[in-house]
Amino acid sequence: MRGLHTRREQLWDAAGLILKRNDMGGYSVPTRGLYPYQWLWDAGFVAMGWHLIDQPRAWKELDMLLRGQWASGMLPHITFHQIVDTYFPGPDIWQSPQQNPPTSGITQPPIIATALWDLYRNTEDTATVEPQARSMFQALLRYHRWLYEARDPDKTGLVAILHPWESGMDNSPLWDGPLSRIKPVAVPTFKRRDLNHVNAAHRPLDEDYVRYIYLLICLRNGGYVEPSLYYFAPFCVVDTGYNAILLRANRDLLAMAKALGEPETEITGWIDRAEKGFQRLRDGQGGFYAGFDVRAGVPLDVPVTSKYLTLWGGAASADEALYLAREFSESLGGTSYMAATFSPVVTGFHPQRYWRGPVWAILNWMLSEGFKDYGFKSEAARLRADVLQLVETAGFYEYFDPLTGVGCGGPDFSWTAAVILKILASE
Ligand code: GLC
Repeated sequence: MRGLHTRREQLWDAAGLILKRNDMGGYSVPTRGLYPYQWLWDAGFVAMGWHLIDQPRAWKELDMLLRGQWASGMLPHITFHQIVDTYFPGPDIWQSPQQNPPTSGITQPPIIATALWDLYRNTEDTATVEPQARSMFQALLRYHRWLYEARDPDKTGLVAILHPWESGMDNSPLWDGPLSRIKPVAVPTFKRRDLNHVNAAHRPLDEDYVRYIYLLICLRNGGYVEPSLYYFAPFCVVDTGYNAILLRANRDLLAMAKALGEPETEITGWIDRAEKGFQRLRDGQGGFYAGFDVRAGVPLDVPVTSKYLTLWGGAASADEALYLAREFSESLGGTSYMAATFSPVVTGFHPQRYWRGPVWAILNWMLSEGFKDYGFKSEAARLRADVLQLVETAGFYEYFDPLTGVGCGGPDFSWTAAVILKILASE
């Protein structure tokens, strides 16, 4: 017992220390060096982690994030609170209409409403945080409204992403098909900065990077005018994981609306439409496709782990959840550490290259919560135990090799620390 107690305490303290070290005075960088700004979905996990050790600091994280919100309601994927020259592409490349503070021009998985509800429901004295919570609720309502108006103008119930980076899983094999149909033209030469910080074998390939920059330029040249970009951008994909995160975020936004006595109908409308929209993603076998390529009009049948986020989103029926649990174990159970981001039994699996195989702590945490919600306790426990083991042995890395447990990408990573705190707090 004593051993277990010590282990927990050590991990808890180490995780807290990482959040403190990555604190830039009100917002957190994901890791020093590689990612020197505030990222959208990182901030959501980080706020939930901070809340377990310093509640006012957690609220500050969201407050700083929302300062980057566009007049349209869009929440950008990076907020450049202060400019450094070690990151590409910076604000000079994005040229976004929001300049105070400057931001990128695309969004990321909408986890922030989930973070807000997590903070609010775990605050004892809600009266003191209520004014802030109410204004954040309004900001997130505007963000979700923007997502539907800009990214689902045909009202299918599911929103599209216009750049792979919007998925948060930047070079997932899921994008290979849609990206292969895109021919980048007139991309000015640029110098990647990520390779100055970490091993090139862990990062996306140059040929992918050219496409990322090409797509950025297309959106910028389109003046970031939505929803017309939905019809014209070369890359337009409905990502199952993204929509599952949005579905849960809408349920959490609804919980906030109830707690604050705010109107609910707009949010329940989004939830109803999304639940119907998921019909388009059902694979006819009992499970779900990982996405739908809107430009090509075809489902994306790729064995990426993000599709199991349907459980986190509560989009699956009880029968579907059973099917998904079986498929999950068959497809991903063969590695020493679960859950690889991409099935290790298919070609293209790469245990150390970014989103093409490695284990990510945030994904394990969300999947574990999803399995738990559907009553799959042992799957949930395995996902938590594996990530605790990985961090204990390798450190708080950005991601991990599922075969060897080696830590990859950036070290001392904020969201890895934050979800370890969440996991330890729930044990
Ligand atoms: C990478 C990840 C993205 C994350 C960012 C900062 O770009 O793919 O999901 O938000 O790093 O951690």
